Amino acid sequence: MEAAAPHGPAEPTPSAHSAGLTVTSPERMRELGRRLAGLLRAGDLVLLSGELGAGKTTLTRGLGEGLGVRGAVTSPTFVIARVHPSLGDGPPLVHVDAYRLSGGLEEMEDLDLDVSLPESVIVVEWGEGKVEELTEDRLQVVIHRAVGDTTDEVRRVTVTGLGTRWAATDLAVLSA
Ligand SMILES: Nc1ncnc2c1ncn2[C@@H]1O[C@H](COP(=O)(O)OP(=O)(O)O)[C@@H](O)[C@H]1O
Ligand SMILES: [Mg+2]
Repeated sequence: MEAAAPHGPAEPTPSAHSAGLTVTSPERMRELGRRLAGLLRAGDLVLLSGELGAGKTTLTRGLGEGLGVRGAVTSPTFVIARVHPSLGDGPPLVHVDAYRLSGGLEEMEDLDLDVSLPESVIVVEWGEGKVEELTEDRLQVVIHRAVGDTTDEVRRVTVTGLGTRWAATDLAVLSA
């Protein structure tokens, strides 16, 4: 983990790398999750944002498939976090719905997940403003759909890598 900048919260821009994608169906969103999984390793944090129904859980489902973890990824509405152990020797997936998480990092640690967070891939839905202090290195995924449109399947997805962890990663592979 990097030391914090001496003058307050670091501006993430200098090492930010971004990819913008158009995703036209839930199946494509899962595919994107599977591709994303190929970039992830133990210790990585992924923050997903986007309104209810944007596709955060759908993306996470693909991510779980790509990582080869046990258990179907579902919307963790009634639990704050769920651990999906690897079926192989990869990292477990910790899937957090921070919508109901008010206390931020301390509350995450209080969850007693019985898993080592630094050795897991952590995916947080609605995590902005709550879990950034876990690490400066993170992948931020923002999913947009046409405002007010609940029938259209087109989503605009922006993936941004922050911190040294992502400085050398070409996110363009995600649009393949
Ligand atoms: N392009 C798309 N990507 C993801 N989900 C989509 C897409 N188009 C339609 N959907 C639908 O939108 C819903 C997304 O739900 P979910 O993934 O649970 O969203 P969130 O976790 O952001 O609340 C699902 O019912 C899914 O079938
Ligand atoms: Mg969800």
